[in-house]
Amino acid sequence: MKTFKTLQWSGGIDGCLELTDQRKLPGEFITKKCKTVEQLYDAIKTLAVRGAPAIGVAAGFGVCLAAQETEKLKLPDAIKRIKERADYLSKSRPTAVNLSWALERMNKAAENFLLIDPDGTVAKLQKYLLSEAQKIYNEDVEMCRMIGINGESFIPDGGAILTHCNAGALATAGDGTALAVVFEAQRKGKKIKVYVDETRPLLQGARLTTWELKQAGIDVILICDNMAGALMKDSKVKAVFIGADRIAANGDVANKIGSYSLSVLAKEHKIPFYVAAPSSTFDLKIQYGAQIPIEQRKPDEVLKFMDVQIAPQGTNVYNPAFDVTPAENITAIITEKGVIKCPTKEKIKKLINS
Ligand code: MRU
Repeated sequence: MKTFKTLQWSGGIDGCLELTDQRKLPGEFITKKCKTVEQLYDAIKTLAVRGAPAIGVAAGFGVCLAAQETEKLKLPDAIKRIKERADYLSKSRPTAVNLSWALERMNKAAENFLLIDPDGTVAKLQKYLLSEAQKIYNEDVEMCRMIGINGESFIPDGGAILTHCNAGALATAGDGTALAVVFEAQRKGKKIKVYVDETRPLLQGARLTTWELKQAGIDVILICDNMAGALMKDSKVKAVFIGADRIAANGDVANKIGSYSLSVLAKEHKIPFYVAAPSSTFDLKIQYGAQIPIEQRKPDEVLKFMDVQIAPQGTNVYNPAFDVTPAENITAIITEKGVIKCPTKEKIKKLINS
């Protein structure tokens, strides 16, 4: 049972977005208020809110913040301004498609408002957009619930699984994606042990996933990323479960850097490799993984460990935030609509458009 809100809108059309500041966890539990589009842009960029579905939900509310700037404008100008601000927000992080998915949906809602109420007021538009953003939030909660239900049977009772980064409640409005599956298995009474990759450089596994799993009373063992191979060789894990930031039409999956290596290790050791993601993470306009934009982050994230310098200043750094796991390394993709085993373009199209 989720004991905190990853994010929520507080108040009416003149309200603000409240986020659990994930940069501070697990040391401090702090709620951050985003009252402007700039503040939200910064919160997304610096990972105060993170995880593909959570970024999408936050962006939906970001458009409501943009709408607050349009009070003195005529309706068509207000909509133009909102779209410009949505475009600005879409540049905060490039890889998770949920961000542009939510922004496009909000833009369409604004256009739709103009069609159904051309003489409407900006206040009415703001109300309409807030209800659309709230819908995105509620749908995300429901998608997580269904992913849990659809994936639970893949969790081995009494066995251990391995996860990477954080695909839990902190990454969504609901219970998470990969971790929703774990939580559902726990609800069903299964005994589960979860190995968690620390997930360098920003330690989402060590800081966030262990925090969530411990709160839920799940047996959790933290490992350094380079220990996964040895763990598999020693037959200590029965399956790998990860989330996704963008899934191409052919089933290639972009997720946190290190996911690809895990998929190769899993294949070598004949361990099933599952990806759990909502349909909002599929980007059917992108044909295969190499076309997915991969975010490159600051060298300091690698040069430092929790703000302590660990390599000589000026050392060259390679710091992609994500990598791509080819579809052929994936045993199944678990979505809220159902499970796609051995994903192919045809199977994905059929399920996502269903
Ligand atoms: O850089 P982050 O922390 O936003 O990366 C998050 C991930 O890679 C998650 O695994 C992914 O977004 C899925 S979250 C349900």
